[in-house]
Amino acid sequence: MNRPAHVCIRAVGAYVPPRRVTNDDLAKTVDTSDEWIRSHTGIGARHLADEGVATSDLAVGAVKDLLKRHGLQAEEIGAIILATATQDFLGFPATACIIQDKLGLKTIPAFDVAAGCTGFIYALEIAHGLVAMGTVRSVVVIGAEKLSAVTDWNDRNTCVLFGDGAGCVLVEAGEARDGDIIDSVLHAEGSGASFLCIPRGGTHAPLDPALPPQGQKLQMDGRAVYNFAVRVLGEVVDELLSRNQMTIEDVDWIVPHQANSRIISAAAKRLKIDQSKFFMNIEDYANTSAASIPIALREMEEQGLLKSGQVVMTIGFGAGLTYGGNLIRW
Ligand code: UT7
Repeated sequence: MNRPAHVCIRAVGAYVPPRRVTNDDLAKTVDTSDEWIRSHTGIGARHLADEGVATSDLAVGAVKDLLKRHGLQAEEIGAIILATATQDFLGFPATACIIQDKLGLKTIPAFDVAAGCTGFIYALEIAHGLVAMGTVRSVVVIGAEKLSAVTDWNDRNTCVLFGDGAGCVLVEAGEARDGDIIDSVLHAEGSGASFLCIPRGGTHAPLDPALPPQGQKLQMDGRAVYNFAVRVLGEVVDELLSRNQMTIEDVDWIVPHQANSRIISAAAKRLKIDQSKFFMNIEDYANTSAASIPIALREMEEQGLLKSGQVVMTIGFGAGLTYGGNLIRW
């Protein structure tokens, strides 16, 4: 077995469905306003997938974007890990297997990771481990969500917050070079599981056609998740820095899960970090859960913000409650 010295991000890709829904569009059917949504979240619009489009379709769009942009062939993918909370099917099969088939790939390992909005952070570290152990040569790590399918469109507390989309990175063995994944921290606080969940539909409480459909969609205690997010964002920054003997000056970019720009402002203030170190694109996409960080990386790359040798910290937090971060030398 040949264990590589380094495990690197070689390429990034993303896809969002074309239908763009602004806050004003939403205000036509929900008791809300552009002013409330912007001032409480920083969100201006979101992209929503049409009926009949599944999470796997969004994911395949992101992988095709990655392959096209970097001139790669699908056959260079050695494994597929999908981070999602919105699988094509309930329970099984894994949506990653559907993606494998849609990409025309055969026999390579494909599985899903369920870690809520932190899913991409978890999946990237799992991919890191698989490549570092020499199990596979490369992994495409995808974060993809069709949150509109599990959103209660009558609940203004949640429906204004989410969007659909997908992003991905190709992780592979390499020499000391660009994209090296230096370190990751992964955590969960299961005691907060009920703060963000879809109460019915699993084995705990099956779907019940006699109950109103709203109770079988995503529910969130927004305040509790907000306070959790501000706290753990700071904890992840501190932990990654101290584990790697770094100071915040050594970090060029923090790419947080895009849940609410106020969470980022509050955490930046608490950490005494200039907010310009945080990349934000929530205004255009809203909260796309596990997809938000790879979509952000794709945008940053396109805008020329990511330069070789820069240190990038990704930070995720969400349902579980899970949280964690990756440290990458770009
Ligand atoms: O990705 C997973 C992680 N998720 C998160 O990180 C979400 C974390 N939480 C949050 O981002 C915020 O808590 C929210 C954006 C969800 C809510 O913001 P908030 O400042 O905590 O608002 P609130 O829940 O305290 O509600 C304030 C008021 C309420 O009215 P009353 O009771 O004060 O009269 C709500 O009914 O705002 C009202 N409200 C709305 N008004 C207009 C709630 N949603 C809306 C809305 N439009 N869409």
